[in-house]
Amino acid sequence: MIWPVFAATALAALADDSCDAQIFLQSFATQERPAGIYDAGPVAMTNFAGQMPSAVSPKTSCSQTSYLPSAIEKKFKLNAVQLTKDRHVLCGALKGTTEEWLAMNLKKTPATSKSDIFSQICPGPMATKQVIEPLVGLLRDPRFLCLKKPELFTFSVDWLVLADNKSFPSTTSSNSRRIFFDAGGSRFVDALNFFVTKYEERGIEMDQIYVWEMEKKNASQYWAGTPEDVRAKWEPRLTWYNGIPVSINEGDMHNPVHRIRELCRMGDFCAFKLDIDTPKVEGALVQQLLEDHGHLTEFFFEHHVQSHLMHLYWLRDINFDQNFEHSYDLFSALREKGLRAHSWI
Ligand SMILES: *[C@@H]1O[C@H](CO)[C@@H](O)[C@H](O)[C@H]1NC(C)=O
Ligand SMILES: *[C@@H]1O[C@H](CO)[C@@H](O)[C@H](O)[C@H]1NC(C)=O
Repeated sequence: MIWPVFAATALAALADDSCDAQIFLQSFATQERPAGIYDAGPVAMTNFAGQMPSAVSPKTSCSQTSYLPSAIEKKFKLNAVQLTKDRHVLCGALKGTTEEWLAMNLKKTPATSKSDIFSQICPGPMATKQVIEPLVGLLRDPRFLCLKKPELFTFSVDWLVLADNKSFPSTTSSNSRRIFFDAGGSRFVDALNFFVTKYEERGIEMDQIYVWEMEKKNASQYWAGTPEDVRAKWEPRLTWYNGIPVSINEGDMHNPVHRIRELCRMGDFCAFKLDIDTPKVEGALVQQLLEDHGHLTEFFFEHHVQSHLMHLYWLRDINFDQNFEHSYDLFSALREKGLRAHSWI
């Protein structure tokens, strides 16, 4: 189990950082995770505690597809490279935002349309107006590199605001389908466990899951670290393309964007995580989403670009001709099309 060790290290790290400690401890206190799920090793997601409702409070209807970046997002988007150039500048620019962002998300506090932090999105006309975490900083947990032990937040997902059944009421109808597409599946426990568990907590229970993983493995490897009851629940719903790389060819059954356009209908809830660490393939698929994302609702993607601060973590598998300015443009463009596009970790 890595969890107790992780928690102890985390608490020690906070001993002299009392303001941060409050936010950080929150994310431990509100977590309820089944025993055994942390046996996965150091790449598993951490801190599953985000709980903010995705609907803007009070409830408002959309008139058209639109995206409204918050004040803090506008500031970062105008100076994406400058504000991410070193820790001092980055953490200075995030100061004041991080605390409120995490506290609201961890305490289930709804965001209003007046928020300076949370951005607003209308996926289409007649939809419910929604909030989404802002595009700021390194496009990951804002505590990363700004607290004394950055590694504690490398794989944190506390900062994300996922969709829920109140923003997408059709998800509670028996006529609608809820489908998750996972490109770059590695093991169930690494990321998919977080997504299906979090969506279920938010009232959206996935009924079909498609997983592509280039590196062939056997079932006990794929399910390693997953408790039996969790595996028993999700395995029958999961189609596992084991040892099959995703394709970028239009119309190919292993092109996840093609499958999304084909399978997801109006009123269905579809989410897609793209994480295959191959910039060329990822870039082509993202381009296809920009052209037509069909009825995809949420998208998660880690865009690897040139960055002094991220260099240590991303190493060589990056888009050498791109930087954070491109990432901000990309996620903004997807959000402007009504797609809840999130940066992934
Ligand atoms: C929406 O999800 C919540 C759990 O987050 C659940 O309590 C509620 O019953 C769901 N609503 C409907 C209409 O199913
Ligand atoms: C799965 O693969 C691992 C590693 O190659 C091996 O040790 C294990 O025996 C295999 N399990 C099964 C059930 O085939």
